[in-house]
Amino acid sequence: MISGAVTLATDVLIRPVTLDDARALARAYRRNRAHLDPWDPDRPEAFFSEEGQVERVRAQLADGRAGRSAHWVLDSGGEIVGHAALSNIVLGPARSANLGYWIDAEHQGRGLASGAARHVCEAADAQLGLHRVEAGTLLHNTASQRVLAKCGFEEYGVAPGYLYINGAWRDHRLFQKILNDRSV
Ligand SMILES: CC(C)(COP(=O)(O)OP(=O)(O)OC[C@H]1O[C@@H](n2cnc3c(N)ncnc32)[C@H](O)[C@@H]1OP(=O)(O)O)[C@@H](O)C(=O)NCCC(=O)NCCS
Repeated sequence: MISGAVTLATDVLIRPVTLDDARALARAYRRNRAHLDPWDPDRPEAFFSEEGQVERVRAQLADGRAGRSAHWVLDSGGEIVGHAALSNIVLGPARSANLGYWIDAEHQGRGLASGAARHVCEAADAQLGLHRVEAGTLLHNTASQRVLAKCGFEEYGVAPGYLYINGAWRDHRLFQKILNDRSV
């Protein structure tokens, strides 16, 4: 389980998601629909409603308790201006997870994604005991590639047809960050 809130900018903090965020999350996804569409999986209409987000956050929290994923929001005075997550957490000899994030269109270019990715990597190491975090970006997502480079991720390959994004199976550049060399 993750805990703790950290300030990323004077008006923005990152903290674990709660059920109380569902309404603001629905607002944020509606506000950013055109911005996120090219980078996201296809979303059913219910995704953009408060009820849809209640269901989604409930599932995320249950997943978090089971140690399968961890979800953070970027909170600016009660509005959600970004999200970061570790999914597919596996332990055993891998101790690894997948990093994902987005930032509200109006808050891009402020270092928020980089700050969030750094915070999530610290939590992955110190709170979740992971060894490695990986991330994949579409080939032309240069902003996200820059975020990963700034946070110490290294590219290790290109995966053809890696994820179904915006209506098709898309090639991705794959990156990883080794967090520590602790023994298992
Ligand atoms: C990608 C994204 C998360 C970046 O968020 P952000 O808060 O603006 O990121 P940061 O400010 O921390 O850093 C962005 C970096 O990319 C650079 N950048 C932005 N647009 C760029 C572009 N088109 N080409 C190259 N670099 C670019 C910025 O200059 C900055 O680098 P710098 O600090 O060296 O100047 C945000 O644009 C977003 O949510 N995009 C849509 C969803 C998405 O792509 N999610 C990631 C999926 S892998």
